Amino acid sequence: MRIAVFPGSFDPVTLGHMDVIERAAQLFDRVYLCAMANGEKHPTFTPEQRLAMLTAAAAPLPNVTAELWTGLLADYARERGAQYLVKGVRNGADFDNEFGMAVINRSLCPGLDTVLLPARPEYLHFSSTMVREMIKYHRPLEKYMPRAAAECVKGWDQDGKQ
Ligand code: PNS
Repeated sequence: MRIAVFPGSFDPVTLGHMDVIERAAQLFDRVYLCAMANGEKHPTFTPEQRLAMLTAAAAPLPNVTAELWTGLLADYARERGAQYLVKGVRNGADFDNEFGMAVINRSLCPGLDTVLLPARPEYLHFSSTMVREMIKYHRPLEKYMPRAAAECVKGWDQDGKQ
């Protein structure tokens, strides 16, 4: 069984992430979405909110599961029996960053390989930062996020929690 992990901050999940998730779900038997902390960023959404958005977005994909993890990514992959990490790359800067992390993760967990999927052209300019701006300025979120995740954000807005 080919098992892959797609890690990220997912703060929030975007249509660009979703494209990579759907492609990974075709390539692998099982895909775990791992919502983590990026040591260089302070997330806007809580871990539980990021997980709720990911879970809602991935609900139509039967072989995809979303979870939270606070440790090293390589340890999570080992616990799930994954042989692959999946990452989306939009440009050379992403590639350079991912290349370095792939080498580290493989040294932490021998046999754990990283598969880089190039972003589709329509998502080259997508980022969670951009989507957070759209949320802030009340733009139609379905253009930027999976619909189910956008519904989560609207619900939190109404509750006054966001
Ligand atoms: O969506 P992001 O912010 O680009 O995701 C980055 C993330 C969370 C995948 C990365 O920071 C990460 O892998 N963090 C886990 C910590 C870890 O395992 N570090 C060692 C490998 S570099």
